[in-house]
Amino acid sequence: MTHVSSAPAQKAPAADSSKSLYGGTGTRRITVRDIAAAKQRGEKWPMLTAYDAMTASVFDESGIPVMLVGDSMGNCHLGYESTVPVTMDEITMLSAAVVRGTERALIVGDLPFGSYQEGPVQALRNATRLVKDAGVGAVKLEGGERSADQIELLVQSGIPVMAHVGLTPQSVNAYGGYPVQGRGEEAAQQLLRDAKAVQNAGAFAVVLELVPAELAAEVTRSLHIPTVGIGAGAECDAQVLVWTDMAGMTGGRVPRFVKQYAQLREVLGGAAKAFAEDVVGGGYPAAEHSFH
Ligand code: KIV
Repeated sequence: MTHVSSAPAQKAPAADSSKSLYGGTGTRRITVRDIAAAKQRGEKWPMLTAYDAMTASVFDESGIPVMLVGDSMGNCHLGYESTVPVTMDEITMLSAAVVRGTERALIVGDLPFGSYQEGPVQALRNATRLVKDAGVGAVKLEGGERSADQIELLVQSGIPVMAHVGLTPQSVNAYGGYPVQGRGEEAAQQLLRDAKAVQNAGAFAVVLELVPAELAAEVTRSLHIPTVGIGAGAECDAQVLVWTDMAGMTGGRVPRFVKQYAQLREVLGGAAKAFAEDVVGGGYPAAEHSFH
């Protein structure tokens, strides 16, 4: 006979939301330990790119817990055609600005093309520069098995590393474009090997870019470090977008994986036109904008 208790059901202890990466009440800077704890709790979190102090301060005030000073600054901020030309000087200067503009977010500085491919020692020299001169809390580099030695030395040296597998935009010239990665059994197995290699090397998180959603879900289940998806479906532990894509600032075709949460290009263009028309028509400056 089944025993039916009349006692009220025990409630599971409520998760301590004050510790949440997004929406938590903590004010100190987020660290890689907080990121690991979020994976344990099963908490999903957002990451945005940032390239300047003012925009970064807006995202910090909005509670974005992790910001990436991505080499996407090449296309989105510096006027290059790809991420390939971005230099250490450029990443260092803009990372320092983002660090200055923020108080709570973990700032991750991207290692640009050519700054770590020669080997672990080159990677350590350039990552050290980002940590010391810009003040970032972690660095990111592209590549799975091929970058494992670099990741290992950085982590052993005390520099947290976010890895990046799937589509790695610094290889655009080798790909001949930006194709979805991991399609087909062999490519899927390679992606899994890459993700495990960066985890074993000590990475604290791994970006999965342009990967079929089912494969990204499998990688996410197989790792104890968080996956950060971009064009990798809904099952990743975190999601990242380039901020100019997220806010509708980037011109031209909108990639399938992007959701625009504002139309900033239109808003800013409208403001510039209204200012220009006021100046031409004599509406600005008015009396209240003038000194006497
Ligand atoms: O540079 C960048 O912005 C990136 C993200 C797209 C992950 O690598």
